[in-house]
Amino acid sequence: MTRDTQIFDIIRRERDRQTKGIELIASENFVSDQVLEAMGSVLTNKYAEGYPGKRYYGGCEVVDESERLAIERLKQMYGACWANVQPHSGAQANMAVFMACLQAGDKFLGLNLSHGGHLSHGSPVNFSGLMFKALEYNVKESDGRVDYDQLEQVARAERPKLIIAGASAYSREWDYERIRKVADEIGAIFMVDMAHPAGLIAAGLLKNPVRYAHIVTSTTHKTMRGPRGGVIMMGEDFPNPWGKTTPKGEVKMMSALLDSAVFPGTQGGPLEHVIAAKAVAFGEALSPDFKLYQQQVQKNAAVMAQAFMERGYNIVSGGTDNHCMLVDLRTKFPDLTGKIAEKALVSADITTNKNMVPFDSRSAFQTSGLRFGTPAITTRGLKEDKMPWIVELIDTVLSNPESEENIRSVREAVNKEMVQYPLFAW
Ligand SMILES: Cc1ncc(COP(=O)(O)O)c(C=O)c1O
Repeated sequence: MTRDTQIFDIIRRERDRQTKGIELIASENFVSDQVLEAMGSVLTNKYAEGYPGKRYYGGCEVVDESERLAIERLKQMYGACWANVQPHSGAQANMAVFMACLQAGDKFLGLNLSHGGHLSHGSPVNFSGLMFKALEYNVKESDGRVDYDQLEQVARAERPKLIIAGASAYSREWDYERIRKVADEIGAIFMVDMAHPAGLIAAGLLKNPVRYAHIVTSTTHKTMRGPRGGVIMMGEDFPNPWGKTTPKGEVKMMSALLDSAVFPGTQGGPLEHVIAAKAVAFGEALSPDFKLYQQQVQKNAAVMAQAFMERGYNIVSGGTDNHCMLVDLRTKFPDLTGKIAEKALVSADITTNKNMVPFDSRSAFQTSGLRFGTPAITTRGLKEDKMPWIVELIDTVLSNPESEENIRSVREAVNKEMVQYPLFAW
């Protein structure tokens, strides 16, 4: 067969792009060579609908072993009692929880999308907002932190069946205990989507939601540094005899409901090559090195946030407890949109994304903010001493985003520096 030079040339160019730039997208990371190897393995050839030991296809004995390993390692990472490693993505994991816990039209409560929440927590263009009745809570304008008083008020007044904590652009620790209390009071299920800080949580640097929530979902590709994918877990509350009556009138355990909501409810055959890569990443996350890595991620983010504030930028909530931060550009550059800022930075080989800030005066297409995160540059090997330098480069670009000359000189500085941090072995 002739080699597909067209597509491999594109892959080579993407590798070059990743290598020469400073990657600050908070939800991205660089996986290890062995994670890549598992993902590109012959396991992609195997159909394995069902679960280990209960498949709809023959010849699954070998992939059963890697899926079982992934489950056991994940449970060990978070002290979970039960886990499902098959969701193809974070949104798929969330969809399965909705399907297991709610009926179409039921109410649920999640963080407002424009205050840091995720599309799958109730956006009107997502299944969650289309099929269910989405209620929302906000962050406070005064300090950018979750408004737990408002969350409780909405929960008591509306009695949603499911309450979701977790976000895509929120840099502070959560008060899971408080949300669990109100969930218990109104008989709601409490789910935490820890997609963003999952790696920091695994390293013990932030509170572990598996101890407080009924159900926890996550992606595996952000701070967790695994392949693209999702997972679902349950902690000590389950698998107790807490069940739900199915349309057939039988009472089923929540674990069985979630398993069947993933397959056959919302997915077909599992991606066994990705599940093996998840197992590899979980094995890496259980090693002592991972804790050192996450400590550096957190340290880099704290120093970066401080450097932004010293240059007159407003960081939503005044800092960060985790790996990310949201910069409100309006204080320093009232006329600069997130859209223009993102484009200018990308031209300088600094990758970030525009993001709405809470109480934004601009639309989601323009935005007044930028989101930054340190997981990828920390994997690359950059330490806290480099963070003020990165912020200085960003400030230089944003001070004159129309100037080609300005952007070119920053890009040269970026490329020259990043050569010192080799990324891929191939
Ligand atoms: C909090 C949260 N949940 C879920 C997701 C969705 O993950 P995926 O893109 O893998 O579907 C994201 C992605 O950014 C996220 O930030």
